[in-house]
Amino acid sequence: MIGLKPTNVVIDASCFEETHILVTGGAGFIGSHIVDFLMRNGASVRVLDDLSNGDMSNIAQWVNKREFELIVGDIRNRNDVAKSLRDVSLVFHQASKVSVPFSIDNPHLVTDVNVMGTTVVLDECRKADVDRVVVASSSSVYGDTTTLPKTEDMHTNPMSPYAASKLAEESIALVFSATYDMNISALRYFNVYGPRQRGGSYAGVMAIFISQALRYRPLFIDGDGQQTRDFTYIDDIVECNLLAAQSSQSKGNVYNVGGGAQTTIESLADRIIKETESKSTKTFREPRLGDVRDSLASIEKAKKDLGYIPKTDINAGLKLTIQWVRDTGVIAGKCRKRASSKHPH
Ligand SMILES: NC(=O)c1ccc[n+]([C@@H]2O[C@H](COP(=O)([O-])OP(=O)(O)OC[C@H]3O[C@@H](n4cnc5c(N)ncnc54)[C@H](O)[C@@H]3O)[C@@H](O)[C@H]2O)c1
Repeated sequence: MIGLKPTNVVIDASCFEETHILVTGGAGFIGSHIVDFLMRNGASVRVLDDLSNGDMSNIAQWVNKREFELIVGDIRNRNDVAKSLRDVSLVFHQASKVSVPFSIDNPHLVTDVNVMGTTVVLDECRKADVDRVVVASSSSVYGDTTTLPKTEDMHTNPMSPYAASKLAEESIALVFSATYDMNISALRYFNVYGPRQRGGSYAGVMAIFISQALRYRPLFIDGDGQQTRDFTYIDDIVECNLLAAQSSQSKGNVYNVGGGAQTTIESLADRIIKETESKSTKTFREPRLGDVRDSLASIEKAKKDLGYIPKTDINAGLKLTIQWVRDTGVIAGKCRKRASSKHPH
């Protein structure tokens, strides 16, 4: 993959060698980084992805390798899932419809894929006697709880169909773990960012701001910009998935995975404008439906049980992400154009 720096994940990878692993949603942003790590460390990796939001370029470097297989299929389809699970002992379940605004426009589709799809994946894992499943959940399950940092035992209060579907995914995962004695854990990711995150109207704020800044277009800030997020660099997310897959403590547990710091959206815009040397301006507009005000993870539980410690802070992560966007020219959605800080389009 052009422009992508080698991962800085540090973990004992020997246990993944020659293991057959399924990554659902493995052509997507997060899933493809998990695939990279596993392929580089001797695993046999299968990806199940319907390519509705994934991008072949994310996995292009692996498609001709003997240890890699892509199954283009739907997690709601039992046959696709059963086929994908052949000989598999470990599953990283990342496939999902991922955006809050998209879910507000498409509540039925998002619930169907995230909730029914996850149920199919877990049920087929049960039948195939899979050893371990790590499920991707989201910090959005907390909603607008005012207490910070957010701890796993706090009340959940989803504010969008997406958040509700992720909470349902988690509940189903924990019920499967308890009912069928399966080794399943769920990770609540807090605002993930990094190379391969695409811009476009349904993307995360980081990808949209970088895309706008590199084109000298206005950075639209929803609300007053003082809302905060806990941004987590992709390598830390990958590492926590691997730790959860190895841990003797993770079964039946939910963990926050954050970067451990609070950043306001306005200060994020300022940093991106500075780092890209952009002439973009900030434009404030109405708050967005379904958005939470503040978000900060307590990562104590993941630290204690899994040994998770985030390694890339926002300054280092932003530099790596902006560099990737510059190198690849991936600036918005799936459209590939040459981004330049000197010559805005
Ligand atoms: N990116 C974030 O900030 C963030 C934050 C919290 C949680 N998450 C969770 O992390 C996981 C991965 O998210 P991402 O950011 O990589 O998103 P992504 O859209 O890049 O990846 C999701 C992948 O799932 C695939 N997919 C969608 N519907 C499918 C279906 N029916 N069958 C098979 N494949 C399907 C898409 O094509 C895509 O490749 C998701 O579960 C998401 O809810 C992401």
